This record gives sequence, structure tokens and C-alpha cells, in this order.
Amino acid sequence: MNWTLILLLGSSLAGTIFGWTYHYSNNTMTWAQARHWCQTYYTDMVVIQNQKENDHLVSKLPNRTGSPYYWIGITKNHKNETWTWIGNNSTWIGEQSWAANEPNNDHSTEFCVEIYVNNGVNRGKWNDEKCSQKKYAVCYEAQCNAASCGRGRCQETIDNITCLCEPGFEGDRCQTAAECPPLSQPENGYLSCSGGKQTFNSTCGFKCYPGFLIIGSPAVTCGVTGVWSGPRPTCTSYKQALFAVAGCGAFSAFSCICFCWMKHRKRKKLAQVRQAEEATSPSTEEQG
Ligand SMILES: *[C@@H]1O[C@H](CO)[C@@H](O)[C@H](O)[C@H]1NC(C)=O
Ligand SMILES: *[C@@H]1O[C@H](CO)[C@@H](O)[C@H](O)[C@H]1NC(C)=O
Ligand SMILES: *[C@@H]1O[C@H](CO)[C@@H](O)[C@H](O)[C@H]1NC(C)=O
Ligand SMILES: *[C@@H]1O[C@H](CO)[C@@H](O)[C@H](O)[C@H]1NC(C)=O
Ligand SMILES: *[C@@H]1O[C@H](CO)[C@@H](O)[C@H](O)[C@H]1NC(C)=O
Repeated sequence: MNWTLILLLGSSLAGTIFGWTYHYSNNTMTWAQARHWCQTYYTDMVVIQNQKENDHLVSKLPNRTGSPYYWIGITKNHKNETWTWIGNNSTWIGEQSWAANEPNNDHSTEFCVEIYVNNGVNRGKWNDEKCSQKKYAVCYEAQCNAASCGRGRCQETIDNITCLCEPGFEGDRCQTAAECPPLSQPENGYLSCSGGKQTFNSTCGFKCYPGFLIIGSPAVTCGVTGVWSGPRPTCTSYKQALFAVAGCGAFSAFSCICFCWMKHRKRKKLAQVRQAEEATSPSTEEQG
């Protein structure tokens, strides 16, 4: 269990997919044949990315009492080249990966690597070897494929896969769309949801019975977080709606009357004042 956790953490930090099941051959073969065998029956020859994976691999393989041991997927093409893993061209080599006095590049021809799996002090250590030597193949098989995680991304750990779901989907294989709170039919209306579902990306439409008016949005959609895009609308009878409109109309009529009356009163008052002024001060025209 700790293993999975450590690897899960490691893989999320590295941001790459790794982890797999390990498989080995019962016959020995050259490095190139071993790789071909792995690619034929599994995904590829084993790749080791850290010391923990190295130790885990060793614990999974049968012990050998002596050579031949197992080929692993790290090589170089020339004398002064860097040791490079197949796959992503990583060059990881741990502090204690090589056995004592290795790589010795015996005769400048040792461009492949075997891993010792025995009971001795060299258990789990590496040795550079001639690629034409015959050893057992160790392969890995990737478990993730396009179908592994319905609506998600597949991430591998040793002997297990984890699905990282797209927003709006859940479940260990991201197979379930998030559900929104169930909606019921509005009073005096109908409800119809796309696909008959009320899950992420479903749209539910509302219609009111004849004689009823819809108040609110006629459709809502279920969002990624399982929340509807808006409130459920209501159905109101035309009579009620009319009363509401009439009420509104009556109110505006009243305000208008009120306003007109006040305006009228103001005008009347002004006129009275002017009449009074005219009476007390005779006009210049009359004087002339
Ligand atoms: C690894 O390196 C080889 C040779 O330089 C190159 O052809 C290949 O595309 C590289 N692979 C990756 C995954 O980077
Ligand atoms: C290869 O993958 C390992 C593990 O995910 C990562 O640490 C390393 O940086 C990668 N190497 C390259 C060259 O991409
Ligand atoms: C292989 O050897 C190791 C170390 O001595 C031991 O712990 C392990 O149980 C052995 N594995 C098998 C399958 O015999
Ligand atoms: C695979 O990993 C998941 C998440 O880490 C865990 O819940 C599940 O039990 C594991 N399955 C197996 C078969 O180990
Ligand atoms: C949501 O539904 C639309 C139309 O049915 C579809 O085109 C789209 O791909 C869906 N989106 C998701 C994330 O499933």
C-alpha cells in the first residue's frame, strides 16, 4: 500500500505516466532480441526511473544463482556516450545502481546492462555487458489504454491504474456524470430533460399547461459541479397574470391622474397670482 502511495506521489510530481506489470522470459536472448520479445508480447523492455522502482522490480523477479541474469532497457551506442533509457531517453542512474567496479566497459564493447537478481551483496545492482550475450528479458506492460478511464486521464502506478476525471465526471473509471439535484414538474406545467437524465450537461425544458404563462427561464442546464444553471421557473395562470398587468395599469393611471391634477392646480394658482398683480398695478400701455 505504501508503495502505491509513494509511486502515486512520485508520478504526480514527475507529471508522467508510469507504473505497469512486470514480465520476464523463460529463455535467454541477446539484448536486441529481448527488446523485440518485449515489444511483441508486452509494451517494451523494462525502464527503471528511481531506486524504489529498481527494488520493487528485483523483488518481483525469480532469484538466479549466477549468470545469466536479466536485461534492462538502458544502453548506449558508443564508448563515450551517456547511458540512456529506452522510452523517454531519461538518463537516470542512482548512486548505488552499479555493482562495485562497474561499469567497467570490458574491451570497450559493453553497451548493454543486466541487473543482478540473486541472494548476494550485488542483489539489485547493474553490470554493463556485451549486447550479444544471452540473458533473460524483463518487460513491462502498460495498463492504461483509451478505454481505461471513460471520461478521464489514465495514470499508472505499479499493478494499478488511477483515473483522473474530467470536470463533471466521477467514479473510479470516470464512468458517471455528476448529478444535479432532482427537479420535479412545475405546478401546472411539464418538465422534459435531454436523455431523460438530470446529470452533467443535461438540459431540462419547462412548458406550462394551456392558459398558463411561464415565469422565469424555460430551460436550465446541469453544470460540472452538479448545480443547475438557474432556478426552476413557475407557471402562472393568465388570469393572475392579467390581474397583475391590470394592477400595474391601474397604478399608472392613478399616478397620471394625480400628476395631472397637481400640475393643473399649480397652473391655476399661477394664473390667480398674475390676475391679482394685473389688478393692483396698471399696465404701461393703459397709462400711455
Ligand atoms: C530519444 O532519442 C532518440 C535519438 O536521439 C530520438 O530519435 C527519439 O525520438 C527520442 N525519444 C524521445 C521520446 O524523446
Ligand atoms: C523520463 O521520465 C522520468 C520519470 O517520469 C522523468 O523523471 C524524466 O525527467 C524523464 N526524462 C526525460 C528526458 O524526459
Ligand atoms: C530472493 O532472494 C532474496 C534475498 O535473499 C529473498 O529475500 C527473496 O525471498 C528471494 N526470492 C525468491 C522468490 O526466492
Ligand atoms: C488502485 O488504486 C486506487 C487509488 O489509489 C485504490 O483505491 C485501489 O484500491 C487500487 N486497486 C488495486 C487493485 O490495488
Ligand atoms: C455536452 O452536450 C453537447 C450536446 O449534446 C455535446 O456536444 C458536448 O460534447 C457535451 N459536453 C461534454 C463535456 O460532454
